[in-house]
Amino acid sequence: MTIPYPSSQPMPAITPVVPPSGASRPRLTFLGTGYLGATYAICFAELGYEVIGFDVDAEKIAKLAGGEVPFHEPGLDELLRRNLAAGRLRFSTDIAETAHFGDVHFICVGTPQRADGMSADLSYVEASVTGLAQNLDRRALIVGKSTVPVGTAEWIEQLVDKHADSQLGVEVAYSPEFLQEGFAVEDVLRPNRIVVGVKSEWANSMLYSAHKGVFDLAATEDREVPLVVTDFATAELVKVAANAFLATKISFINAMAEVCEASGGDVTQLARAIGYDPRIGNRFLQAGVGFGGGCLPKDIRAFQARAQELGAGEALRFLHEVDLINLRRRNRVLQLAAELLDRRYGPAGPDLSGTRIAVLGATFKPNSDDVRDAPSLAVAAQLAKAGADVRVYDPQGMENARRAQPDLTYSPDMIEAVRDADLVCVLTEWSDFRNADPEALARVVAGRRVVDGRNCLDSTLWVQAGWEYRGMGRP
Ligand code: UDX
Repeated sequence: MTIPYPSSQPMPAITPVVPPSGASRPRLTFLGTGYLGATYAICFAELGYEVIGFDVDAEKIAKLAGGEVPFHEPGLDELLRRNLAAGRLRFSTDIAETAHFGDVHFICVGTPQRADGMSADLSYVEASVTGLAQNLDRRALIVGKSTVPVGTAEWIEQLVDKHADSQLGVEVAYSPEFLQEGFAVEDVLRPNRIVVGVKSEWANSMLYSAHKGVFDLAATEDREVPLVVTDFATAELVKVAANAFLATKISFINAMAEVCEASGGDVTQLARAIGYDPRIGNRFLQAGVGFGGGCLPKDIRAFQARAQELGAGEALRFLHEVDLINLRRRNRVLQLAAELLDRRYGPAGPDLSGTRIAVLGATFKPNSDDVRDAPSLAVAAQLAKAGADVRVYDPQGMENARRAQPDLTYSPDMIEAVRDADLVCVLTEWSDFRNADPEALARVVAGRRVVDGRNCLDSTLWVQAGWEYRGMGRP
């Protein structure tokens, strides 16, 4: 029997409970060892917990068990190897073993955008919860962690009621994650808040124990990690609301970039000037080709779809504009390319045939190998579609880019990409590109023209080296 805690009432003080396994700290499992689950599994082992990472993908599990992180995330490889060696961390494709091992099971599987619309595809959540619930042999807490539409935790509870033995007293909770690629290890070990949606004191207590390592680490560093204990719906909304806010902030400054382009203003100076107001703040005000990645684009779409289902669609109509502003920025690069290469921009876009264009950057942001919904790669494909001979280079994302856009041509390094190019487009702000020597690049290109799609280059240096320079939202 679960006791509901309405969000308006404070939770009672947390009373420690003995984990069902009898271990001194709860044993943790993470179902789905993609970016989210693998990072969490490894970092929680680092915090001293006994952990199993589970996945149905045997290849992924074999890599992780062999000490290899299947994606690029600074610092994670070392933590993986250390914790495998310490015996605290294991990886498995055996759901029965995983179910038997854990006290707290975190659901970390993907919730991609559905192929037939904007809403989230929950089939992986359904499969993992069902498989787990059917194999549980004692009490446990199942915690949703993947980003989900509001209402999903209630539905997970129904799945558990249907598939787990009702005598066991299995409970459900929801606790969102806020990982940023490139900073994920820090974001797990030193989060700026922990949010839990629970219905009972037992669930709250188990989740607190499951995060005690985070609170203890903070205490040793004289920090505090705020804990927000709330209901299911609020906890689910926190995640999508945070991402919607971040996406809106980026599209806001990109909208200002459009107005700057129309009026002769400079959005980088505008952003700096408004950012000094602490109520606005200077972060996430970088105008450019817009946001991409596996989270912001799909999350704002799924959020709108869910609000629509709930009859609150009007409240989130602005997110549609946020999305449109974001996508318009990609076209802006094509406009600038046409302008610099002296090509007409017709109703179907520019004709860039006979030109060679170097695209620097394929990932959705630097320090990541992730190309999901990357503006850079999307623009590269559009430039190629417009007839340009496009050469793409990225310091970490080549393998994923090749898989996502096999028809593009890839260069082994930056110099080869820009060699004989009529135009260079910098579309991901890797430090290699920011710090590139415009004099050296000028010697190998066919034409000194550059589009700075992330406003990350020192325009003065480039202009001094003879380049025709165009930024985003700059005169
Ligand atoms: C995001 C959220 O930040 C994170 O809290 C959530 O858990 C997952 O989604 P992430 O996808 O790793 O994280 O990337 P983020 O650093 O937020 O950047 C998203 C996109 O916005 C990138 O394409 C980035 O280039 C772009 N961006 C970011 C801008 O265009 N301008 C900015 O000022 C900031």
